[in-house]
Amino acid sequence: MDRLPADVMTKNKWVVKGYGQFLFDAANISYSDLPFLTELFKKEGYDARIEEMPFMGKLVSANLQPANDMLHAPAPYVIREVTLKRGASGRKIKIGITGFTDLRPGTSGVKENVYAGYQITDPFEAAKKIIPELKQKADVIIALVYMDQVMAQRIATENPDIDTIVGAKEINNKEEPQHFNRATIVYSFNQTKYLGELRYYIGSDGRIENQVQRFIELDNKIPDDPQADETVTTAHQEFTNDQNKQAQQTPATTKPTALGSNLNSLFAGADTCATCHQEEFEIWEKTRHAHAMATLEKKRQQFDNECVGCHVVGFQQGGFQSLVTTPQLANVQCESCHGPGRQHSKNPGKGYGFMPTPQGCTVCHTVPNSPDFNFATYWPKVRHGSKDLLKAGS
Ligand code: HEC
Ligand code: HEC
Ligand code: HEC
Ligand code: HEC
Repeated sequence: MDRLPADVMTKNKWVVKGYGQFLFDAANISYSDLPFLTELFKKEGYDARIEEMPFMGKLVSANLQPANDMLHAPAPYVIREVTLKRGASGRKIKIGITGFTDLRPGTSGVKENVYAGYQITDPFEAAKKIIPELKQKADVIIALVYMDQVMAQRIATENPDIDTIVGAKEINNKEEPQHFNRATIVYSFNQTKYLGELRYYIGSDGRIENQVQRFIELDNKIPDDPQADETVTTAHQEFTNDQNKQAQQTPATTKPTALGSNLNSLFAGADTCATCHQEEFEIWEKTRHAHAMATLEKKRQQFDNECVGCHVVGFQQGGFQSLVTTPQLANVQCESCHGPGRQHSKNPGKGYGFMPTPQGCTVCHTVPNSPDFNFATYWPKVRHGSKDLLKAGS
């Protein structure tokens, strides 16, 4: 297994530090966290790391075990005691929090589910084992799950002692909670655009009578927390330094290719298109698409692979690699929308480059990255060509 790039390590480290700083009680581990967990939980240097990031002790999983003896296991659960303020005032209750991850996509069986040094076991079996144990120690049981809703419902159905399931897996909806057995199932919104709140109403016997959910939109009206701001700024500086260092270390053999001379690339670059489509080129040059890389440079994230994908041509599709090796394919150019055009440039004619709208736009103009996107208002700002795309039915 290759080690994670330094910038990815740094980002993950700051996530763990941030959770600690903001007084989280627990976080679940998903299969995609494992390459990082391996670095975090290796026995070598473990004590120093957990001292720097005490939150590591609150990363829970009941279905991950180390597959070798160089690694520590994450805690299967944590228990937090709280004193009630209302209802049964002054009463103490213990809240047990455990976690489960789905298997990796397309895998099944024990052997296939060893990944990055960890054995991922069947989450349903693991739940049946851990929940009764936790019930002995806690009054309220919360399961954090990285899985889809159908699987979460099965966990609830098979484990009647669970009070709440908090799920995540690229699901962004603000649906009403679901109820299975005693459990209330809620999902968190990804990218922290919303803060989910679940309130427990507890009766005089100390049992939960009701759970009420709401989402608070973290929009511009909510001011940034100065401490959070500082953390983000420091983290940002650290990982952009890593990225800049990595970019400088790119082997010298991969020198920038002269425009148009890289015959291996399927992509020709906008300057080539301009030789025949001057009019479209002049329109495009004035759009923000033509300056999308400068936007990243302003943020100092031009080397961040989590960002460049939508700000360039053909990333991870044989196009843009990095500003050092393929600067001519930076920015959202003609071929970001029309597809690779080297063939067409050599052999022009009709039939190349049909762009479906708005689907072709929303690959990049996703809800998180372009919340205001609306084809009817956006297309006029970049429109070219003779077709009237805004006519009804087109
Ligand atoms: C050597 C000249 C030349 C180059 C270079 C060139 N094109 Fe074309 N392109 C043409 C011609 C000629 C047509 C056909 C026009 C017609 O018949 O209406 C065309 C048509 C198109 C069409 C419309 C296809 C259709 O079915 O109507 C698109 C889109 C297009 N080009 C995009 C591009 C892009 C993007 C690039 C750069 C990657 C590019 N072209 C480079 C000459 C060129
Ligand atoms: C390859 C990804 C990608 C595709 C595909 C794409 N865009 Fe964009 N678009 C961007 C990026 C990135 C920006 C921001 C550029 C900047 O400001 O740095 C942007 C910005 C824009 C803007 C400027 C927004 C403003 O408020 O001025 C408009 C308008 C726009 N896009 C329209 C479209 C339309 C319409 C389509 C589909 C026909 C489309 N885009 C397809 C990536 C894309
Ligand atoms: C899924 C595609 C996608 C990814 C990934 C992406 N962007 Fe963008 N970005 C866009 C689009 C589309 C726009 C245009 C938004 C609009 O104006 O509607 C945009 C606009 C921007 C803008 C200008 C608008 C603004 O909000 O001020 C900045 C800055 C920006 N992106 C930075 C980043 C950074 C930093 C990253 C990585 C953390 C990133 N982008 C990752 C698609 C993407
Ligand atoms: C944001 C996406 C996007 C970008 C960037 C873009 N185009 Fe287009 N282009 C479209 C769409 C959408 C259409 C209309 C639908 C179609 O013909 O596929 C179109 C149409 C065209 C046509 C056909 C014109 C006609 O009259 O039929 C040509 C030629 C063309 N584009 C060339 C270019 C060139 C050259 C560039 C770069 C300088 C470019 N486009 C950049 C999305 C884009």
